[in-house]
Amino acid sequence: MKIKKIRLISFSPTRTSKRVIDAIASGIGDIPADTVDLTYPDAVSTLQIAADELAVIGVPVYAGRVAPLAATRLAAIKGNSSPAVIVVIYGNREFEDALLELKDIAENAALIPLAAGAFIGEHSYSGPATPVGAGRPDSVDLAAANAFGAKIREKIADINDVTTGRGVHVPGNRPYKDGVGAIPFAPKVVEAQCTQCGICLPACPTGAISLDSQIAIDQDLCIFCCACIKNCPEDALTIAADPIKQKRQWLYENCAERKEPRIYL
Ligand SMILES: Cc1cc2nc3c(=O)[nH]c(=O)nc-3n(C[C@H](O)[C@H](O)[C@H](O)COP(=O)(O)O)c2cc1C
Repeated sequence: MKIKKIRLISFSPTRTSKRVIDAIASGIGDIPADTVDLTYPDAVSTLQIAADELAVIGVPVYAGRVAPLAATRLAAIKGNSSPAVIVVIYGNREFEDALLELKDIAENAALIPLAAGAFIGEHSYSGPATPVGAGRPDSVDLAAANAFGAKIREKIADINDVTTGRGVHVPGNRPYKDGVGAIPFAPKVVEAQCTQCGICLPACPTGAISLDSQIAIDQDLCIFCCACIKNCPEDALTIAADPIKQKRQWLYENCAERKEPRIYL
């Protein structure tokens, strides 16, 4: 089949998911692409995907599921039996039911997933003293994403009618495992280091951060994605809540062994 346009759709607070789907798109090759970034509060609420457009969707795994806010924002998609590539990005622990959940989300939006992948991104909680998947996706991951894109191009070229073709099988179970739930914490602002530059404000996917006389984070809105921490040039935002610090330590001790991307075609 002939694809007129690629729609590159991501929710990606710390930008690893976005980098992976950008590399997949460049592997697919010479088809015009537009970017739909669902990360920020101004994300579109309706997104039509035509039958001759390819949706490439990349979202992070939170607690073995699609990040809840990604799932909410993906509800904007209205496909038309449109082909899709679904990709989850996880922090070198596991992706569990996330890819199956993303497949279900895509199918409910009238997309037809033809290819799927699980790639590794630096864990949101990773830091210099407790690295987990640090620096990923790295050049090896991005080369794998690019090669995946080339395989997707071949698969699409072989398909006449996407509605009668070979769908993709992905791992996972239904009912899905329990998701992340509300996290009753927010990163802590280290006042002595904060220069009130405001870089963290637009990095926040929920608009939870405000700057009046000082930086404040609304704990009820915060999803603890760590985008503010990773964007702060002064290291003035930190993980201070004990349960998250314990989780970070557990990840550091148990998820050091490098995992590799997995693809499903
Ligand atoms: C609340 C939360 C839960 C997470 N749960 C998982 C998980 O279950 N498995 C995993 O390997 N990584 C997990 N991660 C790490 C992210 O999946 C990983 O860092 C991903 O690369 C983030 O994507 P982004 O850069 O597009 O935001 C979690 C991160 C957060 C913030």
